[in-house]
Amino acid sequence: MKLWEGRFDKPTAADADAFNESLSFDKRLYKADLCASAAHAAMLGKCGIITEEESACIRDGLKGILADIESGALSVEGAEDIHSFVENELTARIGETGKKLHTARSRNDQVATDMRLYVRTSIDKATRLLLDLVQTLYGLAHANVKYLMPGYTHLRKAQPINCAQYFNAYSEMFLRDLDRFGACRERLNVMPLGSAALAGTSYPIDREITRSLLGFSEISANSLDAVSDRDFVAEYIFCASLVMVHLSRLCEDTILYTSDEFGFWNIPDEYSTGSSIMPQKKNPDIPELVRGKSGRVFGHLTAILAVMKGLPLAYNKDLQEDKECFFDTEDTLFSCLSIYTALLKKVTINVNRMFTAAGEGFSTATDVADYLAKKGVPFRDAHAITGKIVRHCLEKKKTLTDMSFEEFRTFSDVFERDILTVVTTRNSAEQRDSVGGSSLRAARAGLLAIKRRLRKY
Ligand code: ARG
Repeated sequence: MKLWEGRFDKPTAADADAFNESLSFDKRLYKADLCASAAHAAMLGKCGIITEEESACIRDGLKGILADIESGALSVEGAEDIHSFVENELTARIGETGKKLHTARSRNDQVATDMRLYVRTSIDKATRLLLDLVQTLYGLAHANVKYLMPGYTHLRKAQPINCAQYFNAYSEMFLRDLDRFGACRERLNVMPLGSAALAGTSYPIDREITRSLLGFSEISANSLDAVSDRDFVAEYIFCASLVMVHLSRLCEDTILYTSDEFGFWNIPDEYSTGSSIMPQKKNPDIPELVRGKSGRVFGHLTAILAVMKGLPLAYNKDLQEDKECFFDTEDTLFSCLSIYTALLKKVTINVNRMFTAAGEGFSTATDVADYLAKKGVPFRDAHAITGKIVRHCLEKKKTLTDMSFEEFRTFSDVFERDILTVVTTRNSAEQRDSVGGSSLRAARAGLLAIKRRLRKY
């Protein structure tokens, strides 16, 4: 039965029903809808809008529906949306009293409340998954803090870096994502229930009762805004989009680092795939898929923004379109976070290969320039002298560590014997002891800072 049949002569056409319905996807809101309905019924009873007996009977009925959905005894189908489903089912179970549940309420404030409850729970799940990921990255950083690897700019070897510094960089990104989701949660934790269709209600409701029962921190201040705002959905999808950006970058690194050309990491067989034609192949399908799925989440962000942009106040049915893009965002986010954390837990790291690579490509040339500059040569001149040394090495097919002291001296008499240590990989990393830098001390401090921030959660 439809909740609004009264004023119509004819039933709606089957194709109109099919087009209008949202139950096929908003059934995910069943728990939020039942909880918000129970809180509303409790409030109606306490305020004397319905009797306490009616209120208790409604709440018992709702509890039974929840239990039956969760046990699988009741399947959610055969109504326009989750709100109609619950009310129909309730009335079928408890009779006429069920029809009183919708007093002082509209589906407009109801769906806005359900969505906020649902998104709040989703943030809590995203938080747990992100924490697991950061802890995994922390483990990798901690285990490899003594090792060095090449650091890149423009995907060309730039300077040696500390392995922990590398993994910590991703932890920093995901910790910001955690904070961002936390701020989104705070902002969305405002209760629309009690706004009714758009203008508020003439019944003597007490919104404070429903607020506290549903764990909202505030009550919405404007009924028009409360029923028509979905910026919390857009904000969630934005937070998820940034997580996907960060994951996607990590995927790109993984794909490169596990290639034969780099040979830095190894993805174990359990998380690798093969080729149907080339028997030798071991492919990184999982990182590629996560990288690919990021585009899908960004698409949902565009979708929700476009849905909202031209809407006149207050509620419009366009807002029903907030759900599928949201649900697919959370599904994608959760599956990508889970699989990537699992994969990272199994990744093995070839520290010797990375150390060798860290010393290649004249990666300590900046140290030569800095050496000269620290001895009074203007940095621009020091840069030019070092450039000439690199050119010399390229011509002679040697590395900076192959250079003798005498050879260095032919480029500048500022060089002393200690230049031979300055150009080593380890020294280069150790010299960068500034906060956040590549020295062992700085990398350890980075680990400690991450540990402290993890404790907050
Ligand atoms: N399925 C609807 C939605 O998601 C529920 C609210 C319907 N409200 C209305 N005035 N038709 O937005």
